[in-house]
Amino acid sequence: MKKILFCFGTRPETIKMAPIIKECPKHGFEPIVCLTGQHREMLLPFVELFDLPVHENLDVMTEGQGLYQITSSVIQGMEKIFKKYNPDVTLVQGDTTTTFSCGLGSFYAKVPVGHVEAGLRTNNLMSPFPEEGNRQMTSRITTYHFVPTEVSKANLEREGITENIFITGNTSVDSIRLTLDKIPTEESGDMKTILMTCHRRENFGKPHEEIFSAVLDLVEKHKNYKVKFPVHLNPLVKETAHRILGNHDRIDLVEPMDYITFVKEMRNCDFILSDSGGVQEEAPYIGKPVLVLRENTERPEGVDAGTSVLVGTSREKITEVANRLIEDRNYYRSFQEIRNPYGDGFASKKILTALEKL
Ligand code: UD1
Ligand code: UDP
Repeated sequence: MKKILFCFGTRPETIKMAPIIKECPKHGFEPIVCLTGQHREMLLPFVELFDLPVHENLDVMTEGQGLYQITSSVIQGMEKIFKKYNPDVTLVQGDTTTTFSCGLGSFYAKVPVGHVEAGLRTNNLMSPFPEEGNRQMTSRITTYHFVPTEVSKANLEREGITENIFITGNTSVDSIRLTLDKIPTEESGDMKTILMTCHRRENFGKPHEEIFSAVLDLVEKHKNYKVKFPVHLNPLVKETAHRILGNHDRIDLVEPMDYITFVKEMRNCDFILSDSGGVQEEAPYIGKPVLVLRENTERPEGVDAGTSVLVGTSREKITEVANRLIEDRNYYRSFQEIRNPYGDGFASKKILTALEKL
């Protein structure tokens, strides 16, 4: 049986790799799972939730870790993994430092790399940082490019990559499709919820202060709205979030949620404020508008289709668009019932079918 080595280490990679791993037996592949442990509390509960096998865990995470440290520990750890398992192909996902480091490890072992969610670009190496660099470098050493959309395929072609590109949709849509089936619908009361996530490195400091001030403005203006914010465990996010938002009775700062709870919150909320990549892909599946708290996005498909708005990080712009969503329900409804531009929820099958043929 051909062996696929799955390497991942953070929350979003787990959510997006899980449906491929679960699908492997149907395609006659043996999945070998190597966690880097770049995340810990935000990784292991997700691995358990999806009931994934774990063969290795490099367990590299340290409090307040730096990029040099993650990269070097992962690279060091990868050598013995390739010697021990001798896989036929390595799959990496997305744009984290785990993605690039494991891809590089596989390249050094001369094992072909398959990149899931390939071809996303902002073409600005500083935003998102370091993810744009990670994805560009991963593309250079990848053999099989599993791109979510036509847009991402065209991005690769512009860089001279023309072979072995497969348009599959994003596996995040597979995960939300499979998870939503298990969640009963709940009635929402008079109080409406804005769900928020915010963790990107380029938003640390001043942009976070602007974003959180906009949130305060919104709950002050709209007394029938509350905010629920599962705060990322990065100490730099936690500090600013608690300092600015920690003292308001309609702002609920909570621990990161397990995936099922988060999906439930997405379904029950009115709209979402987020700088997360995955959330931009998932929200259209349940018809929830997303205001993207970033200056640019590698996911223009949602903005073009009308499922998200790139509002940036200025207090004025965020409150302006959020106020419109709250006050103009025709505008609100225009976000709903648009076909999800990130896929139909069957990306995993397409990825494994492509690999079977190869
Ligand atoms: C990482 C990825 C980012 C991705 C995000 C998903 C890089 C450089 N960044 O960012 O692309 O969008 O994950 O969430 O790869 N921490 C914990 N427990 C955890 C996870 C994190 O305590 O389970 C704390 C630790 O102090 C850690 C810090 O958060 O040092 C930062 O984690 P890190 O993986 O370096 O960066 P993220 O901001 O999570
Ligand atoms: N998510 C979750 N619990 C939370 C916040 C997010 O399960 O408290 C999920 C969300 O549904 C999405 C993924 O985590 O699938 C996004 O991860 P994150 O925002 O950390 O990373 P990004 O997508 O920006 O790389």
